[in-house]
This record gives sequence, structure tokens and C-alpha cells, in this order.
Amino acid sequence: MRPTPRQALAACLLAASVLTGRPAAAQQPVRIGVILPYSGQFADTGAQLDGGIKLYMKQAGDTVAGRKVEIIRRDVGGAAPDVAKRLAQELVIRDKVDILAGFVLTPNALAAAEVSAEAEKLMVIMNAGTSIITTRSPYATRTAVTAPQAAETLAAWAWRNGVRRVYTMVSDYGPGIDSEQMFLRAFREAGGESSGSVRFPIANPDFAVFAQRARDAAPEAIFLFMPAGSQPAAFARAMNDVGLSPRRTRVLGTGDLTSENALKVLGDLALGIITAWNYDWQQDTRLNAAFVRDYREMHGRNPDFMSVGGYDGMHLIYQALRKTGGDAAGKALIAAARGLAWESPRGPIAIDPDTRDVIQTIYIRRVDKVDGEVRNVTLDKVEGVKDPVLARMKK
Ligand code: PHB
Repeated sequence: MRPTPRQALAACLLAASVLTGRPAAAQQPVRIGVILPYSGQFADTGAQLDGGIKLYMKQAGDTVAGRKVEIIRRDVGGAAPDVAKRLAQELVIRDKVDILAGFVLTPNALAAAEVSAEAEKLMVIMNAGTSIITTRSPYATRTAVTAPQAAETLAAWAWRNGVRRVYTMVSDYGPGIDSEQMFLRAFREAGGESSGSVRFPIANPDFAVFAQRARDAAPEAIFLFMPAGSQPAAFARAMNDVGLSPRRTRVLGTGDLTSENALKVLGDLALGIITAWNYDWQQDTRLNAAFVRDYREMHGRNPDFMSVGGYDGMHLIYQALRKTGGDAAGKALIAAARGLAWESPRGPIAIDPDTRDVIQTIYIRRVDKVDGEVRNVTLDKVEGVKDPVLARMKK
């Protein structure tokens, strides 16, 4: 019988290791296929995430457990699941990557998770925030923040701080729907009420229409989710145009809304917005000052949550490879990733051994003026937050 391509490859690798006396894998680089939006409306998020990957490799070097680490970058261009799936397949089949990584946007991560599951490759989600993504491949893990981690924490905080009725406004796709549902569940459990809700499309929403609708509802407070990128600034302008300013109506949201880039564009329009999130460059943690200094030196700007997702994603990969002694098989790497815990620039972080998803501190921040600049100022924090959707699924 003719050997299958896989058997033939295994035979070659075995022969190579017999000849050299070293495991064959030790001679190959570990290849990581990174899929990000490097162009289009989410290009800046891709640049910030990749900035974290590059800084990690500059600091940690490009060799781990005796193997060289090679990054192969692919531009997905935007929310394009078909493209993401094709790129993931090409990376696995043609470029022979061992690991899939990156993923700013949920639809792309969901599509690539199918490839990870089928090809048995570790998948490291460095941003996308819909809870269920990590359930779509047994080899998927996440170093980002899930939208419900932030939304649920914020709902409890809002109730404790006197908010009783909330109008929700979210992007009509994975992380927006997750945020809306988890915010309202926690808020209602505390005793709060919904005073209405709208969902807007992810692609080029006409925010003026939705802002008008929100104003007509005369809300006591608003909860928002929209992806980082160009949307928060357009949204805030539309809200301001109809007289809904965070200074008069409490505006609550996930931290995508007030990321470093959004604050630069929003300026004073952002003052008063309250968000729950995992990272801001101003955070006072043990490692953050050095991280911000090094990131600025390398990239000429401040890091944001995407950057720390990429940075920690690489740390996870390096730590897992150390534990497996350089074995990059999906099964070995995901087993090594379960339960990893380390000190990140964002604070302590761990990979839940049950769900393979991230556990971290969630900070509550308000946008204020500090030294003449518009910044997120930390008001409160909750440690050891797990994704609430996945935690419920496990029960
Ligand atoms: C997502 O699509 O999951 C996503 C994108 C951008 C964000 C957060 C979540 O800022």
C-alpha cells in the first residue's frame, strides 16, 4: 500500500531525527500564521495588536525551546469570514503553520476556529471578544478580553452607583449581542430595568438615526458596545449632535469606546464616559510602565488593549512551547496552555484550565482630563473575572 502524504512526511521526519540524533521538530521553525486586518476600517486595530506581537519578540527573542519562531502575516481586510477561513487554510496547508493567531474580529475568528479544529492547530485569539469563539475549537484559547467579562462587571458597578434604568445600544453581531445580553442580565438581577434597546449594523452604521431614537427615549443612562476602530468617534459625534452628551446622560460602555486611538479623536466629547475594561496604558501595575516605555520606543505611540492582547498571546505561545519542550502539536500546546498564569502589563492573568479562556482583572474607568489630556482614570477594579457565558455553560 502507498503511504498517505501524512505517513510519508512522518517517515521523512523520523529518518531525519535518526540521522541527526535530535528530534526532527527541533530543526524546523515554529510557524505562526497571524491573521489581522492590516487594511480597511479596522487597520489601526491590526497595527496595535501586531505592535504587541513585535515588541514581545524583540524582548524575548525569536527562539524558544530550541526552535526558531517565524511569523507569517496575512491581511484579512475587515470583517470577512470567508477570507479568514481561506487564509487560515492556506496558512496551514501551504505555509505549514503550527499555530493560528491574531483575530481582531469575531466573524473571522469563528471561521478560522473551524480550521483550527479540523487541522488540530493551536489558535490564540488575541482580540475577538465573543464568548463562544473558544468553544468552536478544542485547540482555541484567548488572551484578549471577552465583551461579557466587561459588560457584566459594569452592570453590577452601575447598580451599586445609583443607575436604575439603562437604554442599550450595541453593534448587531457577536460581541455586541453578548454585551447587551450579559449587561442586562446582571443589571436586572441587581434590580435594574431596561428602558429600550437598539442594535446597529457593524458595517457603516448611520449613527444619526440611532442617536435620534435614543434621544427620543430620554434615557437615564446608556450602555454601549461597538468595536474599536473608526466607529466610536462617529458615534460620539452623532450623539453630541442630538444633545446626548456623557456629561448630562450617563454613558457606560466596554473599553473599546475609549481606547487610546478613540480618545485622541474624541477629545472633550469623551469626558465623563464610564467603561469597564482590561487595559489602559495609564494603568498602575507592576509591569506596565516598562511596557509602555518600550512600546513607545518601538512604535512611537501608546499601546492599547489590542497591543496587550498580542503581547500576552505571544507570551502564552512561548510559555506553552517551553512546557512542551518545543512540541508545537495542537494537542500538546493546548494542554500546556491550560492553567498558565502570569503577570501581564495589565495585571495578573491566567488561562482557565476548564474553558481555555482568559481570567483577569476588570477595571472601571471614567474619562477625565489629566494634565490637559483626555484619559481613562481608574475608579474601581474587580479581580479574577471569568467570562460569564462560558462559566454558565460549564455548569
Ligand atoms: C470583535 O469582533 O470581537 C471585536 C472587535 C473589536 C473590538 C472588540 C471586539 O474592539
